Amino acid sequence: MIDKAPWRKRRVLVVDDSSFIRKALAHQLEEIDIEVVLAGSGKEALAHASTEDFDLIITDVDMPNMNGLELCAKLKETPQSQHVPVIMLSNLDDGPDIEKGFQSGASLYISKAEAKECIIESIEKVLSKASTHKEQTILVVEDSRTIRSVVEKGLSEVGFTVVSAENGAQAMDILSQRTPDLILSDIDMPRMNGEELCRAAHASPSLSAIPFVVMSANNDRPIMRRMMHFGADAYIVKPFNIDQLVILVEKILSDRLLLISKEKESLEKERALILASITSLCCALEARDAYTRGHSEAVAEIAALIAGHMEIRHEDIEIIKLGGRLHDIGKIGILDSVLLKPGKLSDDEFAIIRRHPVIGAEILQPVPSLAKIIPLVLHHHERFDGKGYPEKLSGIKIPLWARITAVGDTFHALTSDRPYRKGMELEKALQIIKEASGTQLCPDCVGVFLGNALWENL
Ligand SMILES: [Fe+2]
Repeated sequence: MIDKAPWRKRRVLVVDDSSFIRKALAHQLEEIDIEVVLAGSGKEALAHASTEDFDLIITDVDMPNMNGLELCAKLKETPQSQHVPVIMLSNLDDGPDIEKGFQSGASLYISKAEAKECIIESIEKVLSKASTHKEQTILVVEDSRTIRSVVEKGLSEVGFTVVSAENGAQAMDILSQRTPDLILSDIDMPRMNGEELCRAAHASPSLSAIPFVVMSANNDRPIMRRMMHFGADAYIVKPFNIDQLVILVEKILSDRLLLISKEKESLEKERALILASITSLCCALEARDAYTRGHSEAVAEIAALIAGHMEIRHEDIEIIKLGGRLHDIGKIGILDSVLLKPGKLSDDEFAIIRRHPVIGAEILQPVPSLAKIIPLVLHHHERFDGKGYPEKLSGIKIPLWARITAVGDTFHALTSDRPYRKGMELEKALQIIKEASGTQLCPDCVGVFLGNALWENL
């Protein structure tokens, strides 16, 4: 079965002087949920395209009065339609005909004989490219107004968002406010030239990853090498064909997307590996200390329930849950003689136990992907009245995720069985939580826990 998703609700204008072909094409597209508007001539098509929004225009080439090539050129001059990709269908499919189609601004040129088989695949290709382009911004830096407008027009026509600067200094102003996906720069410019711009962009941590393409009339090799040395990714020599430039830009951006997705994949793998190691650490801790067994998991559940009733993003709730699982990880660094001591603890021993939030934070510190849960681990024993540890933070100075976790920690500690005593009755535990609101625990978090009877979900 055909996957309808990529083009669902897309709006396509179909232009052909043959009503038979128009209807056949409309039927094929409507079958996959594309909304189709029909036009029998170039004039009719222009009337639609200058007042309505389309995601794609498919046009015949050989039509009376205004042919597909003329229509396409006019569409590219009309502000409303200049970014809309055009697919040309034609019986004229020799090399020069195809060349003319692309010159008039078509994104794709298909022979009518092959259209029935490949039109859906072609639509998908053109639409996905157009939607990727729409999200990508190119900064064009060029002092010649003529070249700047040719480059702007060429990139806009294939759907890129283009911002322009007349020199490096103007480009730096733009870069201080927005981050483009690629910089396309001339070398010889007043105020700040391309070489200075390339060096400045490369030296800035927030800009150095943006691909930098040099366009210059200077094809002197030492200059090219110098620009590459300063961080340029590619060099295109003027005068160039605008299609060459578009293809180069598309290639660099798609390579970069591929690289980013590979990096993301390897980061995900690293995160999964680290989590697996930390989970083993938690298991080691639980195997050592009977009380901790199951406690961390329960605290994680309660914290996630409370967070779910607050204005916290879904991804963050998952992180809070992970934080709940790891909140006592620092106990791994506490000696058995103290952690597992059955009787009353001395003041010194208490002081040792109280170090577990700091030890936990230190264990997680080297793992960049766990940075967000460190404050939770470090501060889960702070008290709302400032009498907790390790930093005696009070009120909302205690990170919210730590305040949430503290409610789960306290509730589970009260209600779970210990080797030396049975867990407390539910009613009594809820009463203690209520009384601790505003002193030990955060009133907002307690309010959410009690007000929504969240213990019933455990
Ligand atoms: Fe703890």
